[in-house]
Formats: sequence, structure tokens, C-alpha cells
Amino acid sequence: MNTALKQTVEFRKMYASDLDRVILIEREIFLFPWSPGNFFDSIKAEYLCQVLEQADTIFGYGIMMRSPEEAHVLTLGIAADWQKKGWGRKLLQHFIQLAKAEHAKSMFLDVRESNHGAAQLYKQMGFRHIATRKGYYPAMCGREDALVMQLML
Ligand SMILES: CC(C)(COP(=O)(O)OP(=O)(O)OC[C@H]1O[C@@H](n2cnc3c(N)ncnc32)[C@H](O)[C@@H]1OP(=O)(O)O)[C@@H](O)C(=O)NCCC(=O)NCCS
Repeated sequence: MNTALKQTVEFRKMYASDLDRVILIEREIFLFPWSPGNFFDSIKAEYLCQVLEQADTIFGYGIMMRSPEEAHVLTLGIAADWQKKGWGRKLLQHFIQLAKAEHAKSMFLDVRESNHGAAQLYKQMGFRHIATRKGYYPAMCGREDALVMQLML
């Protein structure tokens, strides 16, 4: 196989067998990571669970829940070494395409108020801040608000 083929990056469905790697990344990039059970439950519930992979190495993932008219991105992560290279944007674009393919009319996600990098990405992609959930997330000192963001599809 030539180098170009080996280095192809693909989006694919997340399986339970991927979770050791996904959870390693999760613990690396989130101060309050999801538990393995949260990931297992998402797969079992048949949410749209996707990974980003290159040469058998998973370096990003996301989970989206869909209902007839709406899609909710529940989590999105890129391994630390792979961040700031455009993969977060590509992963979100991928979910937007999946939501459109399912005829969702809008897409929602929550982001910590202090997560300026992620919020900036969402704004760039056209999401708007539509509401705030007070004290939604645990934080090092008490609780932190969640910004609810919406994209009309
Ligand atoms: C948020 C995250 C998914 C973004 O992925 P990424 O691959 O690093 O981001 P990209 O390289 O695609 O950047 C796209 C845009 O996001 C914004 N952005 C990303 N990281 C940023 C940072 N640390 N500071 C400021 N802006 C940032 C920028 O606007 C950037 O656009 P630009 O390159 O034109 O400036 C990734 O950093 C991550 O996994 N972070 C930890 C987990 C997390 O916070 N997940 C989101 C939970 S809501």
C-alpha cells in the first residue's frame, strides 16, 4: 500500500471495540470526562456515534442524537495532538451533513461558557447562542453554565 492510501482519514461508525481508545482520548481532553457507560449507552441507543481514524488510529469522535426534526450533538472531541489542524471543523461538518441527510431542521449543542475554542468553532459554523442553562456542568469551583447553541439546517 502506498503512503497516500495509508494516510487516508475516514469517518466511520463507532463500535464498542473502539471504546478503549475513545475513552483514553476523552480522559485526555476533558476535565470531566464521560464514563465508559455513557459511551456504551450511546452505542446501544443507536445514536449516531462516529470516529475519525487514520491508519487504524482513532483521533477524534462525536455522538449525535436525532429526533424527527432535530439533531443534538452530545459530544465532540479531537485528541490533543491532532487539535488545531481543522479536524474539529471537519467532524462537525460531517455531523451537519448526517443531520441534513436525516431531514433534521435544526441542530443543537451545549458548550461550557469557558470553552471559548469550541464556542468559536460553533459560531464559525453558523451556530447561534439561544439560551443558557445555569450551573449545568460540574466545574473545579462549583458549577458552570452551559451555552445552548442552535444551527438552522
Ligand atoms: C473543540 C475541538 C473539537 C475543536 O477541534 P480542533 O480540531 O482543535 O479545531 P479546528 O482546528 O477544526 O478549529 C476550527 C476553529 O475552531 C476554533 N478553535 C479551535 N480551537 C481553538 C482554541 N483553542 N482557541 C480558540 N479557537 C479555537 C477556531 O475558530 C478555529 O478556526 P481557525 O483555525 O480558523 O481559527 C477540540 O479542540 C477538542 O476536542 N477540544 C477538547 C474537547 C472539547 O472541548 N470538545 C467540545 C465540547 S462542546
